[in-house]
Amino acid sequence: MDYLHDWANLLLRWGHLIVGVAWIGASFYFNWLENHLERQNASLGDGVAGELWAIHGGGFYHLQKYELAPPSLPEPLHWFKWEAYTTFLTGFALLWVVYYLNAGTMLLPPGSTLVPWQGVLLGLGVVFGAWFVYDALCRSPLGRRPAWLAMVGFVLLIALTWGLMQVFSGRAAYLHVGAAIGTCMVANVFRVIIPGQKALVSAMQTGAERDPAHGRHALLRSRHNNYLTLPVLFLMISNHYPMTYASEWGWLVLAGLMVFSVLVRHYFNVRHLAGRKVWVLPAAGLALVTLMAAMVPEPAPSRQAAGNGAPEVAFGEVAAIVEERCAGCHAAEPSFGGFAAAPAGVALDTGEQIRRHLKDIQRVAVTSRYMPLGNVTGMTDVERATLGAFIAAPSPAPGS
Ligand code: HEC
Repeated sequence: MDYLHDWANLLLRWGHLIVGVAWIGASFYFNWLENHLERQNASLGDGVAGELWAIHGGGFYHLQKYELAPPSLPEPLHWFKWEAYTTFLTGFALLWVVYYLNAGTMLLPPGSTLVPWQGVLLGLGVVFGAWFVYDALCRSPLGRRPAWLAMVGFVLLIALTWGLMQVFSGRAAYLHVGAAIGTCMVANVFRVIIPGQKALVSAMQTGAERDPAHGRHALLRSRHNNYLTLPVLFLMISNHYPMTYASEWGWLVLAGLMVFSVLVRHYFNVRHLAGRKVWVLPAAGLALVTLMAAMVPEPAPSRQAAGNGAPEVAFGEVAAIVEERCAGCHAAEPSFGGFAAAPAGVALDTGEQIRRHLKDIQRVAVTSRYMPLGNVTGMTDVERATLGAFIAAPSPAPGS
């Protein structure tokens, strides 16, 4: 079972990445197209807003964009929607495999008062509830004031992050914020952008009057999707960076990274326009450097540094702690249920392996404390300090 679970995880993640690349790649490409159309050519045909030449893969491409629509409906007409839908489907399945099937360890923090199914329901509520809140905001009068809407959305997202960090493990909280945003983006495609395009096509077929509201809604939603791409991509890889989510300030770290990445996206949106853009990249850089400075980790706790004259830590002590708190999972044959092999390929069941991984142990169990996962094995602060003291000592002398 654990073995099949690992395969499900691998195949879904792989697939999610592939279709996600296809979706975001197409979206980046169309943004780029829009920004690079030649709009001044005298040779442009009737009703053509712009055109562009490109060379790729050994061939020349010639594209044209129409001001409204071509005189008759072209056949075949290509739509871009399955990239988005399959990204949602694979991501949702992956959420189950990684977080909900192991909710006790992966979703909930140690000592949580929730039982796993309550955590799962809450997670699902957030992922889908976010869309209803967001959609209602876009349709409210706020929808006509994009800057205000963006501010409100940003504050709500950070509040959501903070709230989730109170009930979920840090990594699950981040991932759920990412999943909630991703769901809104896919639903924008499914519920607003594609229906708008369908209405456009059917208006062409029947010769009916076009409803300008469709265009206005679709533009707002695709603009949101454009700016949310980079934050979502970060959230999807955030699991690898406990320094971001593993402190109580994780919600603020996310706020900083969102500001940074939205500014970077903004730069790519406006760099082809004249004027008023020189500040964008420096502002993004400033946001990033400020965040990095604010996040500098405190030095690892060390018993000597505490000045209480504690004796040096012996390797045996370290090995005993790792054996008790980590090796249940991190062994060639884990005894802890749910693992078919040492997680992340890190086995810690012999003295030699522990020595080899001292730096990793410090990073995950002392500096960021994201291991033991969900602290299921109940590692204490004193034990973390002991590990930290041994690793920080001038040279973890052999044989000590
Ligand atoms: C409940 C099982 C479990 C326990 C107990 C556990 N881990 Fe892990 N560990 C995992 C899983 C699952 C992963 C892979 C997922 C990930 O990278 O977050 C992992 C990944 C790691 C990694 C590689 C990821 C990285 O960021 O380098 C290290 C190193 C690690 N654990 C060290 C430890 C140490 C040290 C302890 C004891 C203090 C420990 N683990 C206790 C399950 C566990």
